[in-house]
Amino acid sequence: MIRKAVVPMAGLGTRLYPVGVVLPKGLTPFVLADGRLTTGLQLITETLLEAGIEQIGIVVSPENRPIYEAFLAGGGERYAPARAKRLEMQSTYESLQRLRRHLTFIEQSELLGLGHAVWCARHFAGGDPVLVLLGDHIPLPLGDPAPIQQIMRLYERHQAPVYSVHRVPVSKASLYGVLQGEPTGEPRVYRLLQLYEKPTPDYAHRCLRTAGLAPEEFLAHSGAYGFPSALWEVQAQIAAEYDPTQGEWTLTHAQQRLLQQMPAYLCETEPPWLDFGTAQEYRRAFCYLAGCADV
Ligand code: UTP
Repeated sequence: MIRKAVVPMAGLGTRLYPVGVVLPKGLTPFVLADGRLTTGLQLITETLLEAGIEQIGIVVSPENRPIYEAFLAGGGERYAPARAKRLEMQSTYESLQRLRRHLTFIEQSELLGLGHAVWCARHFAGGDPVLVLLGDHIPLPLGDPAPIQQIMRLYERHQAPVYSVHRVPVSKASLYGVLQGEPTGEPRVYRLLQLYEKPTPDYAHRCLRTAGLAPEEFLAHSGAYGFPSALWEVQAQIAAEYDPTQGEWTLTHAQQRLLQQMPAYLCETEPPWLDFGTAQEYRRAFCYLAGCADV
């Protein structure tokens, strides 16, 4: 059973510069259609807990850790008189304290890449299977744990890696890790054949087509990864061999190695999850969550 999740949030957030310098990406604010003010951190972790995850390791930079901790502490004693006067403040405070009981902050002191961020969580994971959720993607439908539970159930059934995917047009394939799958007969579930980081449109057309999709459509990562405990063995091998001069330590390294050892499955998320890592994506995510626009 997957009971632990790892959410990497340690990146610099350069595409949200200069706001990202002082506002950790996980604390990016959103106003929901019902008027509630929330953040990426809350939307992601609340959905994970609802899906049945019990412990969540948030990978953060040493610089941002005190900011996240202060946020979850909800203003402590300093805000106590204000909370005592305002019921809605008190209930938000209590929901933060509930969240806090399930969260562990893990520091990534060198930004070597997503694969390294996950490696930083190895002691938290203690060799257990984990669900990894990107810290700048909001699972949809909002507050609905069903897509995350589907990944957890598929993992349970196959005891093998399960990755969430969404469809992208070939024009965008070069921005993503593209995954070639073959249909399993179960709607929106594929068996992974191969994965390739940022392919050219030509390569995608020639080598990465998934049967059943339109000719211009490809499957790309959408932000969630269910990993068996074998992840930690392959990550240990990668750590032993890793040379920072040869580029980023991506998660694709571990996915490739796992695929040599066992099958892996893809689970299509519909609607696609909301990325809020760039100004344009943030605008789109904000408007959608506020109820002002479609995805
Ligand atoms: P991104 O590369 O998309 O985001 O990583 P970023 O690094 O925060 O932002 P840019 O690219 O500079 O604009 C996807 C997720 O993985 C985390 C990021 O925080 C983000 O949530 N991440 C990435 C880490 O935690 N550590 C890393 O070394 C790299």
